Amino acid sequence: MNNFINIPEIIFKLGGTGSVSKLLNTNPSTISNWKKKNKIPKSYMNKLNTLMREKNLNIYSEHKDNKSNFYIQKKSKFSILIIISGGVSCYKILELIRLFYKNDFNIEVVLTKSAQKFITPLIVTSLINKKCFTELFSSEEEENMNHINLARNKDLILVAPCTANFIAKMTYGIADDLGSNIILASDSKILIAPSMNPFMWQNKATQNNLEILKLRGVGLISPDSGVMACGENGTGRLPEIDKIYSFTKNYLLKKEGNKHTEFKNKLKILITAGPTQEKIDPIRYVSNNSSGKQGYALAEEFLKCGANVTLISGPTNIKKPSVNKLIEVLTAEEMLSQVEKNIDCDIFISCAAVCDWKLIPYTMKNKKLSNSDKLKKHEKFFFKLENNPDIIKFVSENKKRPKLVIGFAAETENLIHNATKKLNEKQLDMVVANLIEKGNTIFGEEYNKIFIIDKQGNIEETKKLTKHEIANLIISKSLELHEKIYVKNYYRKSVAI
Ligand SMILES: Cc1cc2nc3c(=O)[nH]c(=O)nc-3n(C[C@H](O)[C@H](O)[C@H](O)COP(=O)(O)O)c2cc1C
Repeated sequence: MNNFINIPEIIFKLGGTGSVSKLLNTNPSTISNWKKKNKIPKSYMNKLNTLMREKNLNIYSEHKDNKSNFYIQKKSKFSILIIISGGVSCYKILELIRLFYKNDFNIEVVLTKSAQKFITPLIVTSLINKKCFTELFSSEEEENMNHINLARNKDLILVAPCTANFIAKMTYGIADDLGSNIILASDSKILIAPSMNPFMWQNKATQNNLEILKLRGVGLISPDSGVMACGENGTGRLPEIDKIYSFTKNYLLKKEGNKHTEFKNKLKILITAGPTQEKIDPIRYVSNNSSGKQGYALAEEFLKCGANVTLISGPTNIKKPSVNKLIEVLTAEEMLSQVEKNIDCDIFISCAAVCDWKLIPYTMKNKKLSNSDKLKKHEKFFFKLENNPDIIKFVSENKKRPKLVIGFAAETENLIHNATKKLNEKQLDMVVANLIEKGNTIFGEEYNKIFIIDKQGNIEETKKLTKHEIANLIISKSLELHEKIYVKNYYRKSVAI
């Protein structure tokens, strides 16, 4: 049994932030801060201890089941050391640092000498509220053997931007400053985000060095192409910060997924993808333009995160991903029946473009024709539209509703309004909206541009990204939401006990 002190849980057990702030005569924002950092000054901890004893409550969390292990694992902060080397895109990393800090990552930052020509340690310190390290030969910094200690107990070391020079130093084990010493002394995973002039990038020296680093297991966030700060065009631009952020986060989650095998079997994802095909007769059918690519990308990326993935796919012309369970269907009715059979999951993502209707042929005398016989051209008949089942509504209103139900909305106009309407009407937790227009037909494309809308009304817009990148953004967002719901339910359960 694990015994540990969980500040948010204690505050919850004592009636929440408002009650505890009254009991301790402190500001609610101070309490929120304690919860966020899972840290509390010793004098207040003693007071909380007394209050818990008075109410006969256990100060320790007792996690006996596997689900709780998942909770601990997901709640624990990731520890990242960011080494900023001296490229022109250094300033962009300040936004990345802000994002990590805002999202509760435990970060330390090291600046190389050249990086300090572009940004100052003071800016970094003001963003993270702690010291930014720069010196190898400093009695103050080396009091703690920082060139070794900063390398320890990190979930990840991220070098961003990573200069050609720093890549070369990493390759050859050169350790002539604090950052390069840390890399050499580290046993953590290393991820680099190179950024440089296109010629520096293409240079065989750089490319050969990268090959060696990749063979050693160093992760790479590839640079983008476009016009550089120096005016030249080519590959070498630092990717957008939100891309580096989600890449890093997913990289960490994937690592966790691999490390914790129980996560692998625990988070069950059910995804529908592709179109449905509604039979008119043995030869003809109605369908739509969905290629299945976005749903398949989601299935593949969730699988890489260590989740257990069931994919229910309509008919597509692309390679099927090797998920834990693949079910192929044709019609909306078949898809519904398979969704019902597999509803026992944590997250349901309805990415399939389910045909809203099917066409039923009738004779002119209003007699329904069977769809097992071919319709004859010379015979007169007409079609009636029959509604197909609303699969996502079925899941959302089901007694066995998964913790998260996520839908997709493809609209030709009033995107946000229509997608939000769908979110509310179908009681979804999140909707992924994309606008179908001339420049963004989406269907069959490798790229997509979306809005993610959650039920709190938060709207996030992405730029044009590959469907795999989009999948990773959706995964990050859904894991965050899932975690929130899980923690809420967990607290409810522990209080009921
Ligand atoms: C204005 C300016 C911009 C630079 N931008 C880059 C860059 O984007 N990428 C890069 O690899 N090197 C760039 N350099 C060269 C590096 O600063 C140089 O190789 C330095 O030695 C890198 O040191 P570090 O790797 O220890 O940080 C730039 C140099 C100058 C003067």
